[in-house]
Amino acid sequence: MSRVQLLFAGADEYNDIWVKAAASLPDLDLVLYRPGLDPSRFRYLMLWRPVPGLLPAMPNLKAVFSFGAGVERHLANPEIPAHVPIVRMVEPGLTQGMADYVLWQVLRHHRRFWELEEAAREGRWAPHWYPAAWDRKVGILGLGNLGQAAARQLLSFDFQIRGWSQSRKDLPGIASFAGTAELPAFLKDLEILVCLLPLTPQTAGILNAGLFAQLAPGAALINAGRGGHLVEADLIPALNSGQLAAASLDVFATEPLPGDHPFWAHPRIFVTPHNASDTDPGTGLGEVWRQIVAFEGGRPLENVVERARGY
Ligand SMILES: NC(=O)c1ccc[n+]([C@@H]2O[C@H](COP(=O)([O-])OP(=O)(O)OC[C@H]3O[C@@H](n4cnc5c(N)ncnc54)[C@H](OP(=O)(O)O)[C@@H]3O)[C@@H](O)[C@H]2O)c1
Repeated sequence: MSRVQLLFAGADEYNDIWVKAAASLPDLDLVLYRPGLDPSRFRYLMLWRPVPGLLPAMPNLKAVFSFGAGVERHLANPEIPAHVPIVRMVEPGLTQGMADYVLWQVLRHHRRFWELEEAAREGRWAPHWYPAAWDRKVGILGLGNLGQAAARQLLSFDFQIRGWSQSRKDLPGIASFAGTAELPAFLKDLEILVCLLPLTPQTAGILNAGLFAQLAPGAALINAGRGGHLVEADLIPALNSGQLAAASLDVFATEPLPGDHPFWAHPRIFVTPHNASDTDPGTGLGEVWRQIVAFEGGRPLENVVERARGY
């Protein structure tokens, strides 16, 4: 097969590190999109933010590779033709980064490090009791690629793990709950809740006061899915009432999170700038290249978005 030509667009801030990573893949030509470039010869596009007018000028397009795992912005992009498959990003760097982030935040809430930090700031010597990890109930909304990796990481630290997904999973050591009917049983007595769902019409607003009320009193929330999963107006009241003790938020309804947003100043809300995990240029590009070679060889693409279900 001749060299693979991949057009890279809509993620300009990452151009340099991706060009550098492409240098180690001699059979792949990564071409950065720039206004004025004729994109018509490209069969493969790696896309993040929409670039108006780009896709209609690509009559030979065979597949769109999403720069990230979340694909809601591609599904909302009317320029991607219905017959062109959209491939979600699944690659080891992104997966490991999310497993690390979830472990970091679960440990933070498990050990209530924020209480120790508050005491330290005030010069108070205030040791507190905490249960063993095997007595801590942690639940993961979304037991897909990232949710399963996070679950495995947490299992290796001996936490009690439950997962919720559309279809039931058979995963060693993980209690699987499936579908809306089993959501209450999944939530019951959970002490730490992690959201790693895709944003779809079914999952939008799922993190709301009604859901918080089903968790153990004083539970912690970790949202690394999408900002649209959280009903933001419900969070601070839940923290003030003690229903939730603390929250870690990586994603927001408006990004960047405005400087005057009350989440920044709240002592029990830990904000990160949509940085829980990023696609690694080396392994990410290697994965796209592997898929294109397989596809050109007649094999089906993997991790193709099912448009009707929204992820
Ligand atoms: N903060 C960050 O830096 C960052 C980075 C990457 C990704 N993300 C977010 O993480 C999300 C998950 O990525 P992924 O690669 O793990 O996706 P994935 O492999 O497609 O997994 C999605 C999981 O959610 C479940 N699900 C979807 N809709 C559901 C519903 N209505 N009810 C119950 N379960 C439902 C799926 O169930 P089934 O298994 O039964 O299909 C699956 O287990 C992305 O969509 C993105 O929003 C965030």
